[in-house]
Amino acid sequence: MKDKNVVIKIGGSLLFTEEYKINLKKIAEFCKIFKSRAYSGNHVIVCGGGLVAREYINAVRSFNGSEALCDAFGIEISRINSKLLIASFQDFAYPLVPKSIEELSTAILFNKIIIMGGLQPGQSTTSVALEVAEFIGAQNLIILTDVNGIYDKDPKKFDDAKIFKHLNYDELQELILKISYSKQAAAGEYRIFDAVSLQILKRSNIKVFIMSGKELSEFEKFWSGDKAINGTIISKE
Ligand code: UTP
Repeated sequence: MKDKNVVIKIGGSLLFTEEYKINLKKIAEFCKIFKSRAYSGNHVIVCGGGLVAREYINAVRSFNGSEALCDAFGIEISRINSKLLIASFQDFAYPLVPKSIEELSTAILFNKIIIMGGLQPGQSTTSVALEVAEFIGAQNLIILTDVNGIYDKDPKKFDDAKIFKHLNYDELQELILKISYSKQAAAGEYRIFDAVSLQILKRSNIKVFIMSGKELSEFEKFWSGDKAINGTIISKE
């Protein structure tokens, strides 16, 4: 990884244990790996909402709250998660969470790692990561999630799920279309790659590396320059 500008999306699942406890060890480990590489240019980390966001979203939905209201809760939680990461990065990080692309453009002037969450309802933090990558001209987006990559079916439910090592934009579109649209668009339900993310990706030329954030060994390898990941790579061709 030698690019000047890089965006990393970390799923909220990386920040919390399954018992909803803050995963201090994992956060510290991520911080250490990230700082181990000398860098220049703009580095932006986009944090997801994870289990905690889903918990709030389910509660709001049970009060008959709208999907937009559910999204607003997801956005708030992703921003709280971002603040947590900022606290762990200390002086390396810009101290505020940009809430818009405009705020990001100001934050960039400070030459620090920028950490941010959601922006507006109707999308996921993966869409944010792509919007940010497009805005700062990052060629690569790294997505750390709770599975090893993109599969033909849910690997948490099906033992015979097969991982895609590589997908081009058209193949990804075909895959997304196969999944029921209503499920795709519900707050808290956006999968690793949602429809909004696909649209942004299609107009860009961003290469996406999806790998597990559960074990950070894969990310560590990648971050030190080994691009042969055990995960999914999405590129234009
Ligand atoms: P994500 O679903 O993106 O976070 O955001 P996550 O769960 O940590 O990501 P993965 O699944 O591990 O990759 C949480 C929720 O916040 C709302 C959506 O409802 C989303 O499901 N959100 C997030 C928005 O409405 N807009 C945004 O820009 C970002």
